[in-house]
Amino acid sequence: MTIRSVLKIGNPQLLRIAEPVKTVDLDLKQTVIQDMLDTMQAEKGAGIAAPQIGVNLRIIIFGLEKNPRYPDAEPVPMTILINPEFTPLSIDTDTAWEGCLSVPGYRGLVPRYKHIRYSGLDENGKKLERDVRDFHARVVQHEVDHLNGLLYPHRIRDLSKFGLMDELESAGLIPRVES
Ligand code: NI
Repeated sequence: MTIRSVLKIGNPQLLRIAEPVKTVDLDLKQTVIQDMLDTMQAEKGAGIAAPQIGVNLRIIIFGLEKNPRYPDAEPVPMTILINPEFTPLSIDTDTAWEGCLSVPGYRGLVPRYKHIRYSGLDENGKKLERDVRDFHARVVQHEVDHLNGLLYPHRIRDLSKFGLMDELESAGLIPRVES
């Protein structure tokens, strides 16, 4: 069990293009993937990407049952995805408030595709493919962005819709988080 420190916005390591994983093996599971799971759980994140713990590989983890950071979000199955890719299944987008463990204390309004198909390998090297919508689709797009050196603030179109959670909560713009 190793909780790693999460790199924060401003760290140039978060801006790199991550490398594809060549071999999915026990070593990868017991090191990088386990550290990502432990770190995500400790930080109560809805998702994490390997570059956030300083590992420049194309691995993302996401999922939530009931997450105090996202009280209105529908559940998403806990998923480990290696070398993920996605395709939008419609040009429809919507905007919602996002947060990120690399941008602590802030939320911003970000446009994302509403309906996507994603694929990748699971932790056993088996191919996984899903058609998903809304919050589930949003989380995947956010995490894949991390593998391409993008953080959600780069996607915000109207920077007046970016701010500290406390202030946004007080203004009634995002739901108050119980913690
Ligand atoms: Ni993030």
